[in-house]
Amino acid sequence: MKVPFDLATSTVGDALAAAIQRLQAAGIDEARLDARLLVAYVLGCTPEQVFSHPERQLDVNDCQKIDAIVTRRAKRQPLAQITGHREFWSLDFTITEDTLIPRPDSETLVEVVLDEYPERNVRLEILDMGTGSGCLLLALLHERPDCHGLGVDISQGAVVTAKGNAENLGLSKQATFRTADWEQGLAGSIEGRRFDVIICNPPYIADADAKSLAPEVAEFDPPKALFAGPDGLSAYRTIIPQLPEILRPDGGVFFEIGQGQADDVCGMMGEWGFRNIAKRKDLAGIERCIFGRL
Ligand SMILES: C[S@@+](CC[C@H](N)C(=O)[O-])C[C@H]1O[C@@H](n2cnc3c(N)ncnc32)[C@H](O)[C@@H]1O
Repeated sequence: MKVPFDLATSTVGDALAAAIQRLQAAGIDEARLDARLLVAYVLGCTPEQVFSHPERQLDVNDCQKIDAIVTRRAKRQPLAQITGHREFWSLDFTITEDTLIPRPDSETLVEVVLDEYPERNVRLEILDMGTGSGCLLLALLHERPDCHGLGVDISQGAVVTAKGNAENLGLSKQATFRTADWEQGLAGSIEGRRFDVIICNPPYIADADAKSLAPEVAEFDPPKALFAGPDGLSAYRTIIPQLPEILRPDGGVFFEIGQGQADDVCGMMGEWGFRNIAKRKDLAGIERCIFGRL
């Protein structure tokens, strides 16, 4: 079989070997795993079946499709953008170029909120600032079925994707989403509503750190989801002073933070009247979540 592509191979095993070679040459650490996932994605089978049936014959159409998506991955487009999916909190989220790809570290924030409100049938109004794919809010609503939430984001595309994720996960009765810009002041765009819980994973990378990011992040995640001024703290500076106006008394705020930002963010929260301020480390031992009560 001949097709005019690098991956002009005739069996699953050949396609896999060629894909691994190309991804390794592109400097991708997990080349073997990614190659297997991409081939499985095209063939509509499990990664295990790719391994267990290397002799399976491919037609030209499959070879061309594998070639096309391996080319995208070799240009360092993240796997989740290619397949359009990423698992977070064991739930399946649709991902687009408008949404940050959910990070496993962000599950720390979900765990902390659940620990602070352990009763399954607790009734809370939750605001998710910078909702992206909606992963944080929807994971919480999945675990707390009597809670309701509003997710806001500056990106219209993210809001559309988050709404779709709520529908796919059967959570659209609990969740609404809308565009809003915290730079313009949030209170106005949420009509004076107040919330019991505010969660927020804002952009927190210092602008100058763009050079040290992996190409998957620097070239493919939406810049608005990443960068926050010279020290990475500008979103916290904008958001924290607005919180007393949109939180209910005794309301809780939960921030994801970047490495080394805990003291600065705790300090800002203290200045704006928060108490019981605490931190939680992620699985790598990095302080990842700061939370407190008003
Ligand atoms: C780090 S991402 C977090 C996305 C998602 N919550 C998650 O944890 O995967 C930050 C989000 O904030 C949004 N954002 C950035 N600036 C904003 C602003 N001024 N107002 C509202 N949302 C903003 C971005 O579009 C992005 O979706």
